[in-house]
Amino acid sequence: MADWTSYLNFGISIAKQASEIVLTAFHQQKEVTLKSSPADLVTETDQRVEKILISAIRNQYPQHRFIGEESVAAGERVELTDSPTWIIDPIDGTVNFVHRFPFVAISIAFSVNKQTEFGIVYSLVEDKMFHAQRGRGAFLNGQPLHASGQEDINRCVVVTEIGAERDDLALSTMTTNIFRLLKLPVHGVRALGTAAVDMCQVATGGADAYYHIGMHCWDIAASAIIVQEAGGVVMDTDGSKFDMMSRRVIAASSTAVAHHISQVIQAFPCRRDDEDPSKCVCGATGVNGLS
Ligand code: IPD
Repeated sequence: MADWTSYLNFGISIAKQASEIVLTAFHQQKEVTLKSSPADLVTETDQRVEKILISAIRNQYPQHRFIGEESVAAGERVELTDSPTWIIDPIDGTVNFVHRFPFVAISIAFSVNKQTEFGIVYSLVEDKMFHAQRGRGAFLNGQPLHASGQEDINRCVVVTEIGAERDDLALSTMTTNIFRLLKLPVHGVRALGTAAVDMCQVATGGADAYYHIGMHCWDIAASAIIVQEAGGVVMDTDGSKFDMMSRRVIAASSTAVAHHISQVIQAFPCRRDDEDPSKCVCGATGVNGLS
């Protein structure tokens, strides 16, 4: 197995450097622009930090490829090939960042042959550096992480997100899902406003499960390997194999809990991240649509 440790350490160091820009801006007034919906926000800092990260990596590894949230928003295609690829969210939790709600992360995943080799999630206001390398465990500020191992859904704290979608089908699906879980009952449902940090809670054992529909590959690519390396499982919301492009994920402390959640929740249709927008019939590609 190739050793990607020096690449991981480089990723951690540039995430730390870039976090200083985000932290300074966190306390200041921001210019906000809307993207796909009135709740899908972007700031100059998101764009600036993504450019800084990409140019630092490109300097070091000129052959590598990128999938970055703001580059995609600017029109780039999402294409995950076998080449080494860095999957970057410069600010996960942009709404939090704009409002100074203190959960904001830089998320960086590194994929080779379409397999994630390592993930870095830096929750910068909390100064929590999560990372995991395939086959080598997951860590928070250098300390090993372990998912809770909980198998009983009735004893679970479940994290989810409402996301940026505001259409009726998405909203009714998401609120119905929360209703169904609370009725089981689970111990609680939580949301921090950043998919990356939410998912890392499963790796710490502080939450037992996380599910989300509508997020993007850059939100969860890094945290997925962190959960797996902490002993948790990740899968699609329909119970099938995890596919980071599908915009659906369950992360859980155990397979039993993940399957239980997949049987309770439903998904609304989302265009895949890697679908060619010129060929898509938007809204027609989902599974588990509400009946
Ligand atoms: C968002 C956050 C949020 C999730 C959205 C994401 P962004 O990422 O992760 O928690 O609900 O679906 O798009 O836009 O802040 O990078």
